[in-house]
Amino acid sequence: MPAHTEAATLVFPAVNAAALDYLKAARNRGERVVCAASVANDEVAAAAGELHRLPSIHDADFAVRFLALADAQSVVRVLCPVSTVYAFMTRFLAQRRPELQLIGESPVQQQIAAHRALMARAQRLLPLVERCADGAPSLSLREVAGVLRQASLIYGESNDEKLAAMMGIFARAQQGDVVEIGSLMGRSAVVLLYLAWRHRIGPLLTVDPWAAAECVQRDSPAALQSVTDEWDYEVLSEGFMLNLVPCCADDHAHLRLPSEAGFAVYAGGEPIRSPLGHPVAYSGTIAVIHIDGNHDYAAVKKDCDLWLTRLVPGGWLILDDYVWAHGDGPQRVGDALLRDQAGRIECAFCCGKALFVKLRH
Ligand SMILES: C[S@@+](CC[C@H](N)C(=O)[O-])C[C@H]1O[C@@H](n2cnc3c(N)ncnc32)[C@H](O)[C@@H]1O
Repeated sequence: MPAHTEAATLVFPAVNAAALDYLKAARNRGERVVCAASVANDEVAAAAGELHRLPSIHDADFAVRFLALADAQSVVRVLCPVSTVYAFMTRFLAQRRPELQLIGESPVQQQIAAHRALMARAQRLLPLVERCADGAPSLSLREVAGVLRQASLIYGESNDEKLAAMMGIFARAQQGDVVEIGSLMGRSAVVLLYLAWRHRIGPLLTVDPWAAAECVQRDSPAALQSVTDEWDYEVLSEGFMLNLVPCCADDHAHLRLPSEAGFAVYAGGEPIRSPLGHPVAYSGTIAVIHIDGNHDYAAVKKDCDLWLTRLVPGGWLILDDYVWAHGDGPQRVGDALLRDQAGRIECAFCCGKALFVKLRH
């Protein structure tokens, strides 16, 4: 008699992040999961409640012990998140227990599929990057894919189209400082940092207070306002910093201040310390600015009123969420700018919901 009658999925060997991810997702959909491995793993044991020990697949008693566990636990499918064991398990199950389903692709095939999907995504975006570069030499397909991949590892609110347009416009940016107002965990910041380095534009300054009081969108519906209550702002701050660690950036500093106070520091003209403590010298003139902080009309207007005074001729403004479901602050500010500054504007377009504006030389 099986110890359990409810059908289960056996995760073997349950030794890595893929095993834990499956366990969590399966639990969320109410699927019973049994975890087994040939070596101890405290993390999986704690998450699963129990980690059954099986011999190595190379041991003589593996087959008997594996099949006994499968029978006792009413196992109907097997997930195998280790590539070498997956290959063994394909043959083993076909010979010994063909009714047990080996689910998912092998880890190697998953990597190949993920790589191909990423390259297809970059291929789709490359024409947009090139259109935004308007004939200037811009990123290769491999660079677009690499930047997308790094950005996608970071939680954030910048979509592919906006990031692709950013990649393109840097090809025709002037030299000067690159500034971002509103960084969250750094998705757009890592892209700006790469582009600033790649096109030798200038150092990056990011400004974000990571503070609940600043994040409330007073103009937006109440449902959106409560979203900001969910964040742990120390996690946001630490998450941003560690997401930028691999960029080894000595040409980036962050001001944990609201935009207005950040502008006062920037306008002071003193070097600002990088996360590693090195002084970063800014020219005081901005080549590219990404405004993605508080989206209330008054906040966006203040961001533009302050920071755009430093935008160089030929400089770029990226005004996020010009098209936005939760309010019209960025759109009202953007439209006023397009109307009032028309004589100073060389071109403007909307991409990935953001407004891109280039000043004349
Ligand atoms: C939409 S998120 C930024 C998304 C980010 N650029 C990305 O690509 O993932 C808005 C950010 O603006 C920040 N913020 C809110 N008020 C601000 C202010 N007054 N000055 C600067 N940043 C602000 C918030 O802390 C939040 O991290």
